[in-house]
Amino acid sequence: MPNRDLKTKSRSLHLSTQKITGMVLSAKEKAYKETSSEPEPEFTKKLDWPIQCTVGPGLEGAIACESETGYVNGAKGLLIYRGYDIFDLCAYSSFEEVAYLLLHGRLPRQEEFNKFTKKISEYQSLIEVKRLLMSFPVEELNPMAALRLGVNLMRQKQIYREKDDAEFISDVIATDEDSIPMETKPMGEKRPIYEFVDKQFARSEGIDSCYHLIAELATITASISRLRSGHLPLEPDPSLSHAANLLYMITGKRPTPVEERIMDICLILHADHGMNASTFATLVVASTLSDIYFSVGAGIAALNGPLHGGANEQVIRMLKEIADTENLKLWYENALKNKKRIMGFGHRVYKAYDPRARILGSLAKLIAHKNPEIENLFRISQLLEKEVISTLGKVKKVFPNVDFFSGIIYSALGIEPEMFPLIFAVSRVAGWTARVLEYLKHNRIFRPRSIYIGPFNQQYVPMEKR
Ligand code: CMC
Repeated sequence: MPNRDLKTKSRSLHLSTQKITGMVLSAKEKAYKETSSEPEPEFTKKLDWPIQCTVGPGLEGAIACESETGYVNGAKGLLIYRGYDIFDLCAYSSFEEVAYLLLHGRLPRQEEFNKFTKKISEYQSLIEVKRLLMSFPVEELNPMAALRLGVNLMRQKQIYREKDDAEFISDVIATDEDSIPMETKPMGEKRPIYEFVDKQFARSEGIDSCYHLIAELATITASISRLRSGHLPLEPDPSLSHAANLLYMITGKRPTPVEERIMDICLILHADHGMNASTFATLVVASTLSDIYFSVGAGIAALNGPLHGGANEQVIRMLKEIADTENLKLWYENALKNKKRIMGFGHRVYKAYDPRARILGSLAKLIAHKNPEIENLFRISQLLEKEVISTLGKVKKVFPNVDFFSGIIYSALGIEPEMFPLIFAVSRVAGWTARVLEYLKHNRIFRPRSIYIGPFNQQYVPMEKR
């Protein structure tokens, strides 16, 4: 049953968004009905290390650590953050509340929530990183590379956090409009950001950097989007929610309550997802006692791939390639014949319908009609979904995943496909940072093994004799 705190929140939502709450709840009902007979999966109890498990290629089945942050029930198609069902969080909560929940392990009380959102808002409007970012040719960079650059710049700014801001600006950034990278003084690195000598990180300094990353990834993402389209970045509007601000800073228009609610749900849905590739990459870096900015940089890099967060961009390309519902059958036959990966389908853990795709599918339907081109893509997606479920779904349990419908929604919200993985990162940073904090409390460096299957006893031959 939904938590009472979450229910209270629902009353404050705008009237026009109540339909969306209803859609999320009916998606929940469907999900529970369809998989009620599936057995409960294993591994929801504390482990007695060392453990035995069967590991497949790509670490399939391997258990990396214990976590209280979130749980993916792949057999039943359920996703849980800190004990709360994702359907309830989407129906009643907000991204800010979910980010707090992931980081702190419980829902915030009103004054905690106010303090948290105030901090996020303050960190969002820090201009130094944005200015520094603008001294690079951002519009020529791959957008995810630009985001990583932004995170590195945030890190550099953090190193200078004990200097006052004015000094930072004059030291580090040529602030005038003609600034070029060469004008930036070389500065090196005075000291490491964090010394993970004890568990302090997880309590004080660390949490602030998590807030910093959650806040500023949105500003940096929006700035990259603006610069790519030849516009100057916009300052955030502190009166707006995180979701509304993200859309406002990207498009220059304040979203409608429905657009804001849809964006908010997208952010909630992407915030955490078990030991996925980018979360694992983030944790691997954190486990070496590197710092959280480097760790999140690794997460962004892993997220970029088309098998992970880059998939929704590929989905839009695929739907555009199909171009018309009439071409679908032939396109799909060819795809099957050529053993082509159908982007936006399949998952390592879900062997039932991905709950995130259930919600996003209905939101895509709601918003796609805004634009005939997007409506056409949505119609193609519906037919493709039917085809895949009746073929690959039956035989290999391949169903739509979170990336199948998110691109249609982002397109309808005015976001260009190259920016989709960055929107994923804006949300997933909550899960990355929450899990880093959690992992570091009992840190042990990740160090699996590979099995050497190469030759032995090779005789060294000098170059001129090879
Ligand atoms: N299209 C066609 N066949 C598929 C697909 C797909 N999208 N996904 C899985 N299969 C088949 C695959 O060919 C294999 O068949 P067989 O056993 O006959 O060789 C079987 O299903 C199992 O697939 P797998 O490759 O062993 O699965 P995996 O766990 O290694 O890979 C995946 C998971 C997500 C990388 C994969 O399903 C895929 O490539 N999907 C397309 C890309 C995509 O949509 N990625 C987003 C994932 S969800 C968001 C996120 O968390 O990043």
